Amino acid sequence: MMTEIPAVRGFIRMCTDGWEQGWHERNGGNLTYRMKPEEVEQCRPFFTAPREWNSMGVQADNLKSEYFITTGSGKFLRNVQDDPEHNIGIVEINDTGDSWRIVWGLENGARPTSEFPSHFMNHSVRKAATNGAYRVIYHAHTPSLIAMTYIMPLTARDFTRALWQSATECPVVFPGGVGVVPWMVPGGADIAMATSELMKKYDAAVWAHHGLFVSGPDYDITFGLMHTIEKAAQIYMLAITAGGGKIRQTITDDNLRAIAKEFGVELNEEFLN
Ligand code: 13P
Ligand code: ZN
Repeated sequence: MMTEIPAVRGFIRMCTDGWEQGWHERNGGNLTYRMKPEEVEQCRPFFTAPREWNSMGVQADNLKSEYFITTGSGKFLRNVQDDPEHNIGIVEINDTGDSWRIVWGLENGARPTSEFPSHFMNHSVRKAATNGAYRVIYHAHTPSLIAMTYIMPLTARDFTRALWQSATECPVVFPGGVGVVPWMVPGGADIAMATSELMKKYDAAVWAHHGLFVSGPDYDITFGLMHTIEKAAQIYMLAITAGGGKIRQTITDDNLRAIAKEFGVELNEEFLN
C-alpha cells in the first residue's frame, strides 16, 4: 500500500501532528517533500496514469524531473490521515523545471497547494544551500507567531532576538535566525520569490499576519523547527501580556554567546549586540 511507504507515512503523520497542534484551521497550511530516487521507485508501482502538465509561473533548474509529495489546495490537513488519496498527492516536475503533473493521489480534480510556487522556490534554494540535504518545506498558521507580527517591527533582527530570548535552547535550534516577509498576497509567484530570497539565508521565514514557512532535511527536524519557533512566540506573547508590555529581564547577548559556545553552534552575528 502507498500509505505504508515510510516517506508517505511520515508525510501523513506530520499533517496530523500539525492539525493536533492547532496550526491548521480549515485548509490552512501546507506541506511538501522532495522525494529521494529510491522512494520514487518504491511508490512507482502505485502511480496512476499521469495527468496533464500545469505551468507554475516559477522555474528552477535544480528541480528538473524531481518528484514531490504535496498537500492539496483547499484540503484540510485534518482529513489527510483518513483519506490520503483525495487530500495529498505526488507530482512530477517536467524536464524544464517549470511545470508539474500529478502521478498519484489528488483524486477528483484536486490540485497541489496554492502555495506550491513558494514551496518549489524554497526547495530550490534550500537544496542548493545544503548540497541536496534539505527535502521538506512546511507552512503553518501558528497563532502566537502571527500575533507577534502585530506588535513587533517586521524585521529579521527584531523577530530573531525576541525568539532567541524566549527559551534557552532556541538559539541552538535556529542559530541562523528567522527572516520576515512583509504582508503580501498569498499563493503566487511574488510571495514565492520574496520568501525564497530569504530562504537563501534562513531556515525559517515569517509571513506577516499569516504564518510561518520552515525548511529542513526530514520530517522530524522540520516539524521540530516549526514547533520550537511557535512555542518561543507563545512564551514571548505570554510574557509581554503578563508583564503589561514590559519585559523585566531576559537572556542577555553574553548568555546567547555562552549557549552557542557550549552547544557548538554559530549564531548569526548580525543579530547580536
Ligand atoms: P492551500 O489550501 O492552497 O494549501 O492554502 C492554504 C494556505 O495556508 C495558503 O497560504
Ligand atoms: Zn497560509
